[in-house]
Amino acid sequence: MARKVQITETVLRDANQSLMATRLPYADYEDILETMDKAGYYSVECWGGATFDSCLRYLGEDPWERLRNIKKHMPNTRLQMLLRGQNLLGYKHYHDDVVEKFVELSIKNGIDIIRIFDALNDFRNLQTAFEAVKKYSKKYGRHVIASGCISYTQSPVHTVEKYVEMCKKLVEMGFETLCLKDMAGTMSPYEAEGLIKGIKAALPNVPVVLHTHCTTGMAYMTITKAIEAGVDVIDCATSPFSNGTSQPSTDTMFYALQQYGIDCGLKEDVIKEVNDYFKPIKQKYIDNGTLNPKSMATDAQALVYKVPGGMLSNMIANLTDMKSMDKFDAALAEIPAVRKDLGYPPLVTPLSQMVGNQAVTNVLLGERYKQISNEVKNYFKGEYGIAPAPVSQELQDKILGEGKEPVDCRIEDSKRTGEDFAMAKEELGDLARSEEDIMSYICFPKQAKEFLEKRKAKEENIAVYSIEEA
Ligand code: CO
Repeated sequence: MARKVQITETVLRDANQSLMATRLPYADYEDILETMDKAGYYSVECWGGATFDSCLRYLGEDPWERLRNIKKHMPNTRLQMLLRGQNLLGYKHYHDDVVEKFVELSIKNGIDIIRIFDALNDFRNLQTAFEAVKKYSKKYGRHVIASGCISYTQSPVHTVEKYVEMCKKLVEMGFETLCLKDMAGTMSPYEAEGLIKGIKAALPNVPVVLHTHCTTGMAYMTITKAIEAGVDVIDCATSPFSNGTSQPSTDTMFYALQQYGIDCGLKEDVIKEVNDYFKPIKQKYIDNGTLNPKSMATDAQALVYKVPGGMLSNMIANLTDMKSMDKFDAALAEIPAVRKDLGYPPLVTPLSQMVGNQAVTNVLLGERYKQISNEVKNYFKGEYGIAPAPVSQELQDKILGEGKEPVDCRIEDSKRTGEDFAMAKEELGDLARSEEDIMSYICFPKQAKEFLEKRKAKEENIAVYSIEEA
């Protein structure tokens, strides 16, 4: 059988999020959805991540309605979302009943693939969401794919063997596909090759997806090696919304795969139409300043400093604020040490900020851990999950008290009381018309309430609306 590598189109979610802070309104792309539906993508990533928050906060859109609309215009394409496990689309731990309901509503409103990850790769945080996918896939009579996703990072403990172990665990849990999520774009071509080969050797029948970003300029080389090593699906974005901090170009990869003699299932004329459609849209957002040209450039700093770009700019901003940029090199050198003490967490939000800020504090005060941030304390208490490697015993004793162990917050947080729903219902009163409204409120109370109030006012044609908008 001829080799196949399929493509997930990310323009509606990650490309939109990475290049223009998720400010693309639904109305801008409605007209191209029926065309996209004919392209032959493996899936279209269109929801989750920051889209939900952005809909409510900035765009005055109901995220659920957006999803239903996309589904209506793309009935033949798998719609995909990104879910942060027990944190859903935010950073706090939600109760199990909330997680389950969120997954149910996502499936009910049209999602076909849920890519689930945890910042620390603590897979206990994927369990509830995973079980909900299975349960509601059955209930709604659709095959919804639960994709087990690994936050990729580099450290002395993150070996190929460790990643293969993680993949095996995800497959044991029941995940159908695996995804390597290289959010900082720091995975090198040979790392990709080693990883994919290792995973494919251990789990030959499980489809493997590679998600990376062009931020450091390495993505095309990395994807090329991944393809040679046997990857099954790659995440790409239509050319106008590709590169920079976004994904590699769908169109470029289409031609590259042709050269390899690999079928990606895409129709050339259709992806060209998609490309042509998004060109003027991109220009519109460059012209009005939403799309910052900086995000379209290549920035290799992350490779030099072994620190993701966002974390680096955060540190520079902090040090500049404190008029201490002369300590920049020392702070950079302190990062690996702090990371080691914390058991090598992946450098993603919120852990990247936590590690970066603590490194800066250590250097500024001239003494390590003279001051410890609340976030780091909570991390040691176990609030974020289990660290990838053992943490510093000395630091743990200092924070928790000698001989004390972190608590299993996963268990404490997982109560199913229904109280979140009851409270939301009461607080929203007649603003809530559906379970979806209530869920929006549980996830983003302030933004959802404002949105629902505006919706009500609009319907009642009250002048307040236009005054507020002015
Ligand atoms: Co991404």
